[in-house]
Amino acid sequence: MRLVSIGNCFPGMVVGKPIYTELGSVLIASGVTLTVAMINRLQQRNVSVLYIHDDLTDDLEIEDSVPIELRAEANIRIKETFDELLKGNRRDGRRIKHFNIERIQSVLDSLLKEVQRTKNVSRLLSDVYIHDDYTYTHCTNVTIYTLAMAMELKMTRKEITMVGMGAMLHDIGKIHIPKEILNKNGQLTSEEFDQIKKHPEFGWEILRNEPSVHTISANCAYQHHEKLDGTGYPRGLKGNEISPFARHLAVADVFDALTSNRSYRNAMLPHDAMEILYAGTHSQFDPYYLKAFQKAVATYPVGVTVTLSTGETAVVTEYKFNVPDRPTVRVIKDPYGNKLNKPYEIALSNQLNITITGCEAIL
Ligand SMILES: [Fe+2]
Repeated sequence: MRLVSIGNCFPGMVVGKPIYTELGSVLIASGVTLTVAMINRLQQRNVSVLYIHDDLTDDLEIEDSVPIELRAEANIRIKETFDELLKGNRRDGRRIKHFNIERIQSVLDSLLKEVQRTKNVSRLLSDVYIHDDYTYTHCTNVTIYTLAMAMELKMTRKEITMVGMGAMLHDIGKIHIPKEILNKNGQLTSEEFDQIKKHPEFGWEILRNEPSVHTISANCAYQHHEKLDGTGYPRGLKGNEISPFARHLAVADVFDALTSNRSYRNAMLPHDAMEILYAGTHSQFDPYYLKAFQKAVATYPVGVTVTLSTGETAVVTEYKFNVPDRPTVRVIKDPYGNKLNKPYEIALSNQLNITITGCEAIL
């Protein structure tokens, strides 16, 4: 089984793992043979990648990462909370009603359980398959990364809950930003960007008055765009003025933003995104949390199809956390796209002249 992008799916391929809608129902079951109509339907539903059976890789053990059903449920609960808060909070800060924290608390607990489970097998997918609205998917992804980092750092249960809740709600202030600006195709004007920059403060205003939300979680919303050198927003805080929880969250937030397709730019390869993060060590990101991220999140999990600098197509067979951009891969197609009769493996950690130039999980 391997993960392929929808653009590389052809009629006759057999689905390896079920595909779910954002609401958690099965769109296509595993074992189904794809038809042109199905592929079109998947494309219409924004499915970007799926697992297919493939005789060259069917021996690969692909451990389940955080299940899609649970990701879908997290998206729904986050959306409900955002909607509820939009109804219950006016922009002038006047509150009509508080929100139901149990709704997201229970989904946070389930995500934590899954992350604890998958932590042992050291893998997390770096993308979700179906999403209609990037805001909620982004919050779910950031929460999963944040929890994985927290496990790596051996944080206490109380700290994990605070930073996890902060991650789920970090962009809540966007409910007061016009949708036309949030979903705009193309570059934002400086006036529009000034509007976007208000969301951390709006988030803080909403959350600090919620009795069920810890101030530390509210602070995550307030400070997640601050940078160590003081060039962030909204207050231009520096170094230790920024809460450690917000510094933790900032790494997960930027990684997910860089590796996701947005209306105005294509997703970056995970290792390129990591390089951008490392380039910002000390000026933007706290190296302590960057290291934790790198140790906790497998950027090229087993089963992901990649393109090599040689033009060949390969599938990741072994991931190494100490050299995250250099997994071991099995070459299955030559540079012309012809399937190999005898696939062979390359340990990219030993073959430094060959690099990964494409990854189907983020197309
Ligand atoms: Fe944000």
